[in-house]
Amino acid sequence: MVCGDYRLFVLLLTTSSIVAAVSDETLNVYALLGSNLTLPLDQKLLSDQDALRWAHNRKVIFYRLSGVVRRGEPTDVDVAGSLQLLNLSDSSAGDYKADVYDRTGVRVNGWSGHVYVVGKVSTPVVTFLCGSGDATATLKCDVRNPKHVVYAWTHEGQLLTGETKPTLSVSLAKFKGDKGFSCSVSNSGSKAQSNAVQLKSKQPPPPPPPPLPPPTPPTPKDYCFKARSEETFNVCALLGSNLTLSLDQKLLSDRDALRWAHNSKVIFTRLSGVVSRGKPTDVDAAGSLQLLNLSISSAGDYKADVYNRTGVRVNGWSGHVYVVEKVSTPVVTFLCGSSGATATLKCNVLNPKYVVYAWTHEGQLLTGETKPTLSVSLAKFKGDKGFSCIVSNSASKAQSNAVQLKCKPPPPPPPPTPKDYCFKASTVMAAV
Ligand SMILES: *[C@@H]1O[C@H](CO)[C@@H](O)[C@H](O)[C@H]1NC(C)=O
Ligand SMILES: *[C@@H]1O[C@H](CO)[C@@H](O)[C@H](O)[C@H]1NC(C)=O
Ligand SMILES: *[C@@H]1O[C@H](CO)[C@@H](O)[C@H](O)[C@H]1NC(C)=O
Ligand SMILES: *[C@@H]1O[C@H](CO)[C@@H](O)[C@H](O)[C@H]1NC(C)=O
Ligand SMILES: *[C@@H]1O[C@H](CO)[C@@H](O)[C@H](O)[C@H]1NC(C)=O
Repeated sequence: MVCGDYRLFVLLLTTSSIVAAVSDETLNVYALLGSNLTLPLDQKLLSDQDALRWAHNRKVIFYRLSGVVRRGEPTDVDVAGSLQLLNLSDSSAGDYKADVYDRTGVRVNGWSGHVYVVGKVSTPVVTFLCGSGDATATLKCDVRNPKHVVYAWTHEGQLLTGETKPTLSVSLAKFKGDKGFSCSVSNSGSKAQSNAVQLKSKQPPPPPPPPLPPPTPPTPKDYCFKARSEETFNVCALLGSNLTLSLDQKLLSDRDALRWAHNSKVIFTRLSGVVSRGKPTDVDAAGSLQLLNLSISSAGDYKADVYNRTGVRVNGWSGHVYVVEKVSTPVVTFLCGSSGATATLKCNVLNPKYVVYAWTHEGQLLTGETKPTLSVSLAKFKGDKGFSCIVSNSASKAQSNAVQLKCKPPPPPPPPTPKDYCFKASTVMAAV
């Protein structure tokens, strides 16, 4: 019997990998330093006839065969075969494996897993850094031993789902409230939460004062063609021209009240067909305002209101009129660069207000050139038709005559310096 047992022991030690018929899932187990841990084999049918072996990092630490413990202490395992690990230390970590063999040497059960021994996490501390614009901040969760640590963030006591990094970027506008931010750390064996911190950023600058009417016109390109808001239009018209501000009130009846205002001053009122401010000819049948012979003082905000008999506003119009002068025909002048290889052209126009510039060469538009000056390399621009500039102010447009660049060729290179001269002379002499 002893001999038979011995034979089985040898068999177990030599062919365990071959007889491993039961495949076990490898589990990860986290446990706190200094705690007790049971690795559960759960072998309910473990009998004294079965052989049980536990290994730690491939080294057999417990072996029981036919009820006789041959390696380790009988108290190392409980009745179910589970391994008892007491007072876990760092060296307790690692791979653990259990194998159970029946009397015939067949592996009938097992367990396999990796034990991580983690220290208790320290209480984290939240620090923060305000962004340069004071609109954002970055919070940092500091913990003494960050190994195997999982982070979570809360704001006003609510978990911020998806925020699992040690840092958190927040927009100050988005996160209001007075309870603040807190982080919690856990490492499967323990968990700790920081105190809440309230972000204190510099006071945001006071809101800018309301814009002064009328607003400064934006760049010419924008100011004529872009509506300022859904209902407000920008209209450009030439000095001295006629302009109709179209109300387009198709159903305007004599019963409706119509009022037009210029820079908040009422300039036309008609109530029940009676004009009490302005002249009947100031508006057409649709209620559109007629502005004749526009002057600089015609510019500004215009607003129309249409009320029905019960005093309900049923239509309106609102816009800003810009009065621009007809652009003068521009004149191109140029200046040759000192090397004679480049030149700078300048587009001169009498009234450059609200003017947009464009340049052509040989009749072709030079895309991207929208400044009053143009720098050219003479080598790059050849041809005999020359350069011309176009100016426009949304209500008028004019083009300059073409100019042909005439720059002196670069001066001849300076005579050689004495050093060069001597060196050259000596080589010539040597050759002779
Ligand atoms: C671990 O087990 C031992 C023996 O059973 C016991 O004395 C000790 O209090 C336990 N320690 C912990 C942290 O539970
Ligand atoms: C637990 O182990 C540590 C060293 O790892 C030792 O200092 C301590 O005294 C042990 N505690 C017990 C209750 O055995
Ligand atoms: C503007 O309207 C008046 C009156 O209808 C007309 O005499 C004048 O020729 C118009 N001016 C222009 C520039 O169209
Ligand atoms: C247009 O107005 C200007 C002054 O703003 C005036 O000199 C000119 O005579 C007016 N033209 C007409 C046709 O009324
Ligand atoms: C004025 O308009 C309001 C709103 O559209 C309407 O309810 C009311 O009947 C109108 N009054 C008249 C006299 O048309």
